[in-house]
Parts: sequence; C-alpha cells; structure tokens
Amino acid sequence: MAVYNDFFGPYGGRYVAELLRGPLDELEAAFKEAMDDDGFLKELNRFGKEYIGRPTPLLYAEKASKAVGGADIYIKLEGLANTGAHKINNAAGQALLAKRMGKSRIIAETGAGQHGVATAAVCARLGLECRVYMGSEDIKRQRPNVFLMEMFGAEVFPVESGSKTLKDAVNEALRDWASSSADTHYLIGSALGPSPYPDMVREFQSVIGKEVKAEQEKRKLQVRAMVACVGGGSNAIGFFEPFIHSGTPRLIGAEAGGTGPEEGCHAARMTGEGRTGVIQGYKSRFLFDGDGQVLHTHSISAGLDYPGIGPQLAHLGDTGRIEFTSVRDDEALEALRFFASNEGIIFALESAHAGAAGLKIAEQYKPGEAVIINMSGRGDKDIFITAKALQRDKWFDFLNEETKNG
Ligand SMILES: Cc1ncc(COP(=O)(O)O)c(C=O)c1O
Repeated sequence: MAVYNDFFGPYGGRYVAELLRGPLDELEAAFKEAMDDDGFLKELNRFGKEYIGRPTPLLYAEKASKAVGGADIYIKLEGLANTGAHKINNAAGQALLAKRMGKSRIIAETGAGQHGVATAAVCARLGLECRVYMGSEDIKRQRPNVFLMEMFGAEVFPVESGSKTLKDAVNEALRDWASSSADTHYLIGSALGPSPYPDMVREFQSVIGKEVKAEQEKRKLQVRAMVACVGGGSNAIGFFEPFIHSGTPRLIGAEAGGTGPEEGCHAARMTGEGRTGVIQGYKSRFLFDGDGQVLHTHSISAGLDYPGIGPQLAHLGDTGRIEFTSVRDDEALEALRFFASNEGIIFALESAHAGAAGLKIAEQYKPGEAVIINMSGRGDKDIFITAKALQRDKWFDFLNEETKNG
C-alpha cells in the first residue's frame, strides 16, 4: 500500500492561490481512490503492456563493464518505451485518471518537449483534447518535438512571457487550470508542483523501480548502486522508489553540471548553491540569485535545465539517503559516445548524465557486483544537438543540402 506524504521533511506542500485548492482537493481524492481500485490498476497495467511496451528490458552492458573493469553495469532501457522516454508512464497514469474523473481536456507544460510528446500521444490514444504550453524559445529549440505533438493532434500554445521557457509555460498552464478545472486536468510532467503531484508522479513512475527489483531478484544481482539523472526528478524517484526505505543499494542522482560551477552555467540544485524556497506551488531547493530571483540555468540537455528539484528528492538528499553528483556537458557527451560505441545504444542527453556518473561509480566495485543506470530516454530527440557537438562539419553540410533541396 502506497504512503502519501504531501510534505517530505520541510519540503513539498501546497502553496497555491485559493482558486486552485478545490481542483487539487478533487484530484487528490480521485488519485487515492483510483490507487485503491484494482480495476484502475489493471487498466493501467494493460495500457503499460500493450501501448507503452512494458516491461522495458534490463540490459547487461557486458562490453562497457569489461572496458571499465569494475562492477557489472546494467542499463534499464526506458528509452524503449513508446515515444522514447519514461515520461509516458506518468502521462498514461494521469490521463487514465483524468478520464476516470470525467475530464475531457488535458493541459500540460513542456520544456524539452518529451513530456509534451508523451502527453499528446496518450491523449490521441484516449480521445482527450490536448493543449501543451511551451515557451516560444523552447519551440524554436525543440522543433522536432513540436512537429510530433501536432501530429498527435495537440495544440502547442506558445508562451511569450518571462524567459519564454519552461517555468513560464508552467505559469500559463496554472492560469488556464484556475479557470478550466471543471472539464480539464493539468498533467504535470515531473515529481514536483503542489501536492498531490509529487506523490502521484512517483507512484506512476515507480513501475520502473518495481521492474528492476523483480529482475534483481530473478537474476540474484548484488546491486551496489543505482544511478539516475535528475531534472525535476521523475525518472529518479520512480527508479529508486522500491529501494528508498531499505539501507541498500546506494542511490545516486546526477544533476546537470553544465559548463562549470559559475552562476547561471549549470542546474546543480543539490551539489551547487540551491536554497530553500517556494515556487509554483511547492517548497523545495531552487537556484536563486542574490536578489532572490530564480536563476537562469544551463545544461546541454533541455530536460535537466531546470532551477528546481522535486521535494522528495531534496529531502532524501538532505538526509543522505540519496547521494547527488553533478556531471558537466562534456562528460555527458563523452558517456553518450562511450555507450554508443560499446553497446550500440544512444542515450538521451539527460540520461547520458546518469551514464557518465554510473561509469565512475562502477570503478569503485568489482565484477560480480552490479551498478544499474537508468537510461530515462533514448537520444533520437537530441540529434540536432549531439550531431552538431560531435560531427559539426558533416552535420552542417547535411543541413545546408537539405535547405537547398527544400
Ligand atoms: C529523457 C529524459 N530524461 C530525464 C528528463 C528529466 O526529467 P525528470 O527529472 O523528471 O525525469 C527528461 C525531461 O524532459 C527527459 O526527456
């Protein structure tokens, strides 16, 4: 039976305008009731199997392990889920819940676009109207994902306020929800926001960790460490969930170290100078400037480029149950290249941060001991960034040819 926290130590909570209290109360009641209903859990399970492609494999990365010469490295391949990343687990759970609540319209925010794509796909499948709020800057940077969302029939709504990125998209979505909650569900994409979202997103993502645990028992793996990247924290908390309350294995979260530790050059809230604050309805650790304004962050991976972290992860970081480390852009690119050439797998840039951290952790153990890396998504979506970074000239020649022919 799941435990719902609302608060995680000093973090979490529900700091919202009066207008949003009613919709959040309604959502919390519906979520708890659904999680106690075998019918709902069966439907979710069937959706996972037939539409998402669950369970995703746990791959023994033999060549990579031999190259490192330390622990046996295993990779949980969430990138093989439909639409290419773990985001679909949560999108499916919340959309099925919304349908059960009698809502006909879904709104979502997206930054990198992966959550938007997952939400749009699930809405197409379930026959729900879908609007995705996206900063106009992100629309420019993530054109392939905008195309996919539109293919699925979603309306991608450009947000022109603020820095025209993810946090501005969240503000617009909250504004919409305040006036539309009678027929609309707001489908938040990470394990953050006002309660019950952090609890709800963790539960829908915990399928990742449950599958890992089943494989661990089946194969009798001596798991010493598990490593996941942390943007808002949904893939990490879902991957870690079944292991949090036991003392082992070590749980390690990889944050974006960007181009270096200087202000504005990274998104390291736990390993950098994150401070406690309340933003967008929840209390957690955020990156602020000296005037208390939310800082601009940087990461080569759009999905880790976020100034806040989910409240449960912040708390587990404070208590020491989760260790945090930061990985720079160049280290993530190197890990991407390493797993591509050794295992034939292209990590998403976000997951490549976990890959880089996992390789370092694996060095601390020996064969027969296991380190498991969560590949939260695959790298198809990043081709415009990775090809430019790794094969600049060839990529520009190709793009030039395409525009000439176009
Ligand atoms: C593949 C992938 N991994 C990780 C993330 C980071 O999100 P979270 O920390 O919520 O898992 C994203 C976000 O877009 C993503 O697309």
